[in-house]
Amino acid sequence: MSTSKKIFAINGSHRSEKGFTQIVLNRFLKGAASAHAYCEVLYPSRKKIIACESCGKCLFEAPGVCKFNDDMGSIIEKIEEADMLVFASPVYFDSMPSNMKKMIDRLRVTLDAFFEFREGRTYHLKSIKKKQKVILIFTAGNPERESFVSISRVFNRILDNMGWELEGEFHFPASHLLVADPELLSTQLEAVTMSGQQLVAEGKINKNVIELANREYIDDPEMILRHMTQMILKMREDNK
Ligand SMILES: Cc1cc2nc3c(=O)[nH]c(=O)nc-3n(C[C@H](O)[C@H](O)[C@H](O)COP(=O)(O)O)c2cc1C
Repeated sequence: MSTSKKIFAINGSHRSEKGFTQIVLNRFLKGAASAHAYCEVLYPSRKKIIACESCGKCLFEAPGVCKFNDDMGSIIEKIEEADMLVFASPVYFDSMPSNMKKMIDRLRVTLDAFFEFREGRTYHLKSIKKKQKVILIFTAGNPERESFVSISRVFNRILDNMGWELEGEFHFPASHLLVADPELLSTQLEAVTMSGQQLVAEGKINKNVIELANREYIDDPEMILRHMTQMILKMREDNK
């Protein structure tokens, strides 16, 4: 039997593997694979995931059972089997893409119906099998890091509710630079790869490496916006 760690990554981008988010995710998985992890990526936008209707079946009728028979059953199995999880997502209106949110809402079925009050907050009693470590990867079009405040808070609360443990979070603003000027971000991207390697090989990521991955690469947000305007105008011209 293989003893390699299983990493289950979920990329919420509606552009799936063609998007900017995948570029950062690939760097992380490259590092994890170099430490012999088995990595799998799921794109919620490619799966059949029906939105939770809050019908109450999993609460009041059949705990742990959802009335829908779609791809969520196998997704939950993969989440539960994994040793580590990665949630990679673009920022959409300061939040996550709708298919990612649909998937997360459906995780409600994995939680106990009953609650407890702990440190000023209400939590579902735990029913998730493992307390996996989680990596969060976010990309945003805007150049300022403020773009990540809202999505980061939401995901951190999701982790809290699910009983998962945050191991590292990576933010990549002005995401077009991942394609337009990868050299500018090379230190940050190498640190993301190193994080993947460290997490699998050592079970944790060095804080300095996380800091390096999140090191600022934009001196002048307004200049980036001017570049973005030029880019859009050129693309419109080319598409005429
Ligand atoms: C519907 C939609 C909403 C967006 N909202 C924001 C936003 O609120 N803030 C931001 O900085 N970028 C926003 N963006 C830009 C994306 O976050 C950015 O381009 C991201 O890197 C796309 O990742 P992907 O190529 O992996 O899909 C939005 C993009 C879309 C399609």
